[in-house]
Amino acid sequence: MMNWVRLLGGLVICGIAVSGAAFAGQTKSAGREGGHGSDIVAKRVAHMRSAADDMRAIADMLYGIEPFNGAQVAALSKAVAKRSGAAMVALFEAAEQPENSRAKATIWSDPKGFQKHADELKRLAEQLQVQAEKAAQEGTIARVQAIVARSAYLNIDHKLLAEARAAMQPLQKTFMAMAGQCKSCHQTFRKPKQDDDPSADEQ
Ligand code: HEC
Repeated sequence: MMNWVRLLGGLVICGIAVSGAAFAGQTKSAGREGGHGSDIVAKRVAHMRSAADDMRAIADMLYGIEPFNGAQVAALSKAVAKRSGAAMVALFEAAEQPENSRAKATIWSDPKGFQKHADELKRLAEQLQVQAEKAAQEGTIARVQAIVARSAYLNIDHKLLAEARAAMQPLQKTFMAMAGQCKSCHQTFRKPKQDDDPSADEQ
């Protein structure tokens, strides 16, 4: 069946496979909690993985893998916002780099630079929350989704489809900026994975 998800998903965005896969990979990684670590690393890892789970759930809805639900995207964005900013920085308050930690010493030599990423992530997540609430209210995306679900591909009103895509674009842009903050903070402040570390995913 040609449903709206495949239609919108296929047409709206080609790049999502890349970021979707990156998030999927991240949450699958295992084994960081065990071994020669400390509670703080387990805490950081759990916190980061929850953020990654939320990001993946958002991506699924913004890029057509799951039907768009504005209220859900808003709630997930709020959850990411809560995990970023000061809450994220607090996990790195003590300059702890146990054996199994990938935290770089630069986190503590450049605390402002580190915090900037966490704060910018929070700002963007709050922005996405507002955008998703607005999209839920306007209902354009959900309306098109319902129409497409009822129609065969050829019957689709392409003007409506274009409207839905246009309504989705600002949310996708904010989401990509959020993912960019995850990535740039990792590039600057997280060590490359060690050879014996099975959590192989680089994001
Ligand atoms: C302010 C910097 C910063 C931001 C922003 C940030 N991270 Fe991290 N992240 C880190 C650091 C540092 C580590 C390594 C912690 C350690 O090993 O002690 C890490 C670790 C991780 C891990 C590895 C957990 C594991 O399985 O070992 C994942 C997954 C992750 N981050 C996902 C994300 C996602 C998704 C985002 C964006 C929503 C994000 N991070 C935003 C700094 C950041």
